[in-house]
Amino acid sequence: MSTGTATDLGALPPVPAVPLTYRQRVAALREPHTGCETIRDAGGPVTEVWIGPRRIAPPFVIVTSPRGARDVLTATYPLVDRDFPFMTDQRYINGGSLLNFTHAEWVVRRRVLQPVFTKQRIAEFTTQMYEVVTDSAQSWVDGEEIDLDRDSRRITMRVLGRTVMGFEPGDEPDELIDPLRRFSKYIAARQRAPVRLPGWVPTPARRDAVALNKRAHELAAKILHDCRTDPDLQAPLVRAMIEATDPDTGQPLSDEDICHELVVFLASGLETTATTLAYALWVLGRHKDIQERVAAEVLSVDEEQLRTDPRGNLPYTVSVFQESLRLGGPTPGIVRIAREDMEVDGHRVRRGSLLMVGVYALHRDPSLWENPLEFDPDRFSAERSRGRDRWQFVPFGAGPRSCIGEQFALTAATLELASVVRRWELTSIKPDYPVSAPLTIVPAGPVPAVVRARAH
Ligand code: HEM
Repeated sequence: MSTGTATDLGALPPVPAVPLTYRQRVAALREPHTGCETIRDAGGPVTEVWIGPRRIAPPFVIVTSPRGARDVLTATYPLVDRDFPFMTDQRYINGGSLLNFTHAEWVVRRRVLQPVFTKQRIAEFTTQMYEVVTDSAQSWVDGEEIDLDRDSRRITMRVLGRTVMGFEPGDEPDELIDPLRRFSKYIAARQRAPVRLPGWVPTPARRDAVALNKRAHELAAKILHDCRTDPDLQAPLVRAMIEATDPDTGQPLSDEDICHELVVFLASGLETTATTLAYALWVLGRHKDIQERVAAEVLSVDEEQLRTDPRGNLPYTVSVFQESLRLGGPTPGIVRIAREDMEVDGHRVRRGSLLMVGVYALHRDPSLWENPLEFDPDRFSAERSRGRDRWQFVPFGAGPRSCIGEQFALTAATLELASVVRRWELTSIKPDYPVSAPLTIVPAGPVPAVVRARAH
């Protein structure tokens, strides 16, 4: 972590500018997952990228070394914060939430919400998760072709809805995900634009984003209303927010606050988990040997073990999900804004810079991973993980502002994978898995696969 005093910092070299043309820089930032690799290969592990005058468009500092990731992700206020343009825009439209709060408000909210997401608390939901997942994976017909992207979203949405948020989604994931995806895409595009109009200018894209956000908030208001009127509804996340009080003032969260958070949980939790699940299932459908190992592991444990401790009882399945997070995870990069001059991997970063840890680039770096593009779940076995730099694998971020949903996602996805493979044998139809990164990384189109009932 940066411990530099002003004198120490003064002795450090500045961050070098990336030797790419303007067009190349804009193109790299537009596709930040592969863009960070391009920037690293051109300029090194800590590189500055400009796309406009500093006053209008702060420079990006792209960080792709484990040490740099550690320096950025363990840093906290007042050195770094989250109020970079994407987040201030997100807040302006969606309202304040855990995702976009600046430090002081975030500390209070995180303290309130963290207890719902601990490993122990998630363990209390696994029986419910198991029921939902089992039920969701039953609707396929033997021999039919499915879209793994769409069905992963459908399953994930049900798990999130029915285990912690008290809503019963229909069978149409796009009704919810499409507005959230378009909303995020709009804000992400604004962040990358060299020049942007003020938020109050009612362009068609802006009006669309506001309307999409309104729809998401209507769903959140319905969730909250149902939870208040039905005391038996399984909705621990919503109930925790209803019961929470500010530790200093004793004030509860307003309904508006709760709705802002619910929208963010939907937006942050659905696509991320579903994209990784879709990738994992696609890989299994290409690598029958790995699929059979997962199936053998899943079939060797009884339902009670799955209900009580899925991750503890399915170590290989967990490794498959981790390897899927490495190669097919949703996070292109993680951003902070430097509020002070600070040290990152031996360089002096100037205050006002946008720090982006290139997660996709770190996860595929040939100097960090043996055969980086090979899907090899055993690299996450306890034995082979020993000695690995903790900062080269950061799918959920790390440090104080890391993903609050990590334990939930890991448990839910392990059960989702297990439950699908327990019943079905998958064959992926396409040999490749194209992605795009409008905000998070998502499949660029349908991911077709044929499912066959597994003979027990
Ligand atoms: C595979 C699944 C997931 C991945 C890869 C993922 C990844 C991430 C990442 C990279 C961050 C930013 C961390 C940082 O800035 O250091 C984040 C933040 C966050 N995630 Fe997730 N996430 C996943 C699932 C979830 C789920 C299931 C939820 C909620 C139900 C969730 C809610 C959040 C929230 C609220 C934040 C902001 C946390 C804060 O600033 O305190 N995520 N996630």
